[in-house]
Amino acid sequence: MTDRAPTEPGAPVLRPGRGPRAALRNTRFRKLYTALVLSSFGDWLGFLATTALATQLVDTFQSKAYATGGVLVFRLLPAVLFGPLAGAFADRWDRRRTMVTCDVMRFALFLSIPLVGSVVTRGNALVYLLIASFLIETVSLFWIPAKEASVPNLVPREQLEGANQLTLIATYGSAPVAAAVFALLSLVSRALGSGFDYFRTGPVDLALYVNAATFLFAALTVYWLDLPSPKVADRPPGQPAPSVFVSLREGLVFMGRTPLARGLIVGMLGALAAGGAIIALGRLFAESVLGGGDAAYGLLFGSIFTGIAAGVALGPRALGDLSRRRVFGPSIVGAGASLIFMSLVPNLLLAAVATVLVGAFAGVAYVVGITLLGLEVDDELRGRTFGLVQSLMRIDLLLVTAVTPFVAGAIGTREGPVGLSINGVSVVLFVGGVLGVVVGIVSFREMDDRPGVALRTDLARRLRRTPARPTYTGTFVALEGGEGAGKSTQLRLLEAWLLERGHEVVVTREPGATATGASIRALLLDPTTTLAPRAEAMLYAADRAQHVAEVVRPALERGAVVVTDRYVDSSLAYQGAGRELAVEEVARLSRWATDGLRPDLVVLLDIDPVVGLGRAGQEPDRIEAESLAFHCRVRDGFVALAESDPDRYLVVPADQEVELVQEAIRRRVAELFPAPVPSQGVSVPS
Ligand code: TYD
Repeated sequence: MTDRAPTEPGAPVLRPGRGPRAALRNTRFRKLYTALVLSSFGDWLGFLATTALATQLVDTFQSKAYATGGVLVFRLLPAVLFGPLAGAFADRWDRRRTMVTCDVMRFALFLSIPLVGSVVTRGNALVYLLIASFLIETVSLFWIPAKEASVPNLVPREQLEGANQLTLIATYGSAPVAAAVFALLSLVSRALGSGFDYFRTGPVDLALYVNAATFLFAALTVYWLDLPSPKVADRPPGQPAPSVFVSLREGLVFMGRTPLARGLIVGMLGALAAGGAIIALGRLFAESVLGGGDAAYGLLFGSIFTGIAAGVALGPRALGDLSRRRVFGPSIVGAGASLIFMSLVPNLLLAAVATVLVGAFAGVAYVVGITLLGLEVDDELRGRTFGLVQSLMRIDLLLVTAVTPFVAGAIGTREGPVGLSINGVSVVLFVGGVLGVVVGIVSFREMDDRPGVALRTDLARRLRRTPARPTYTGTFVALEGGEGAGKSTQLRLLEAWLLERGHEVVVTREPGATATGASIRALLLDPTTTLAPRAEAMLYAADRAQHVAEVVRPALERGAVVVTDRYVDSSLAYQGAGRELAVEEVARLSRWATDGLRPDLVVLLDIDPVVGLGRAGQEPDRIEAESLAFHCRVRDGFVALAESDPDRYLVVPADQEVELVQEAIRRRVAELFPAPVPSQGVSVPS
């Protein structure tokens, strides 16, 4: 994740696949998302029900306060104790199985709380509640990194930000819904209590049962999800996996050494601390600085969450194609500056506006940060990264909310120089803001991927809404498929049709469309060559780089329609799935080779390898000569790619009549051109 190229501003995409809606159209992500919505809702409901239950199990006001506090402490403790460890497991275990197991355990634990409570004394019920809370939170710690690490495998890169927006909205947006449902359930159980004896003893029980059920549903949803498990790359077969602690250390070393990860983590902690400080000091600030009371505090509290929601929901859209690595630091500077402003103006309305801004900047930083971590951290390290981030964030929040009021209190209110009165709360907020600004600048320095271009220039460009690079005017289509899928025939027919419609058409292929490429091709397909998988991947990438520079890009810039027989997806399917290299790494290689040039449409001719290989010629080349299992992996690889981005792929079963296949291709290709021309009859030369 150290290369500094992959932001691809303005990479030509005919039908933008960005945004939350595009991510939701993706079936596999939708399933995981359903599970996430259920689990988050269950989490909040469980939180409300367990704290309510704790107060019911004791009698005096003081013990009620302690019991509630106890539940909170027992829920925060596991993250501090073994958050990072849980992340290390997300990189070792099958993530789907981890999630399902966790959900089943949470189901059982929540169910057990009312059941155990009904057979033991109230004192023991409280003890059990604390133990169960601890266990539930521990299980959630394993669930979260497994989920976070899986999302980038389910959606294509450009949809990850939208997917993260949805994830954050589900995680925090389900809180008010859960609160409403909890209130409703208390009413229902009170009504039931008048009819059934059982509910009279435990009005919270109903909430716990509903909550248990949400986890069971979530478990089933994920169980039916086809989720790639983490690749443990670079380990020679036969060598045992390193211990959890070794792999945890590996993860920490990686994060410490990588500027991007460092910048992101420090920045996210800074943004969170800014928001946390307002929550922790809000009440004091309202009273001692603004001279207000609960209403003023309520306004500030509401403002911070409104700001966060706005930042998460609207930020990415407002940022457009700006490089995310460039806007992350500045958004933290923005949060810090707003905090400084807030600390200096003793006015409720302005303080509320500043609070909204702190929240909005922090919200943007949060979505951008999580997305960059998902995009740039390799799959096999992702669980550990998210595990560490989740526990650091909890510790951060815990420290900020616990420490800042004490510091503010210790400073107190006193007379400052030149007759100014100094208030501890303002001082802490001011210092926090300055720290935020510093952290933001450090993050920006670590992460900037366009060091030659002033940030001002980029921002001005964005305000004028001009794309980063002049996009070409042509159209780019790639034809993909396994051996014997009939690509050449379909390509010829498509070319004839496009010419008939008056387009300039450039038909090309990989490997070997250029003079240099021809030599590379000879090397690649010669059955007597021996090539290590990585060498093979690099040769295909080298051929592709030459192909794009010499043939594809110039043609697209002229406005031609370029149709290529094979492109990046072949490498992902053959070298990634087939040779079992990490697909994300192969993708990165190709992105670099092509400078981010992506087809507007990829047509996948899907064929059973048994049939396809049967159609292939007499003398198999080096790749054709691979085993059937290899070709089956290639096919599955292609299909998975197409499923992950249905908007940009057309899958056509290639075992049908040639005309039918061509008809389907033409119908879809026609959609790429602005003026809809009725699809014409297919004439197949005999
Ligand atoms: P070719 O004769 O062009 O085959 P086809 O008619 O099947 O396209 O040979 C290309 C071979 O190279 C084919 O078996 C697929 C393989 N290949 C890769 O493994 N990776 C790649 O990135 C590309 C472009 C092709």
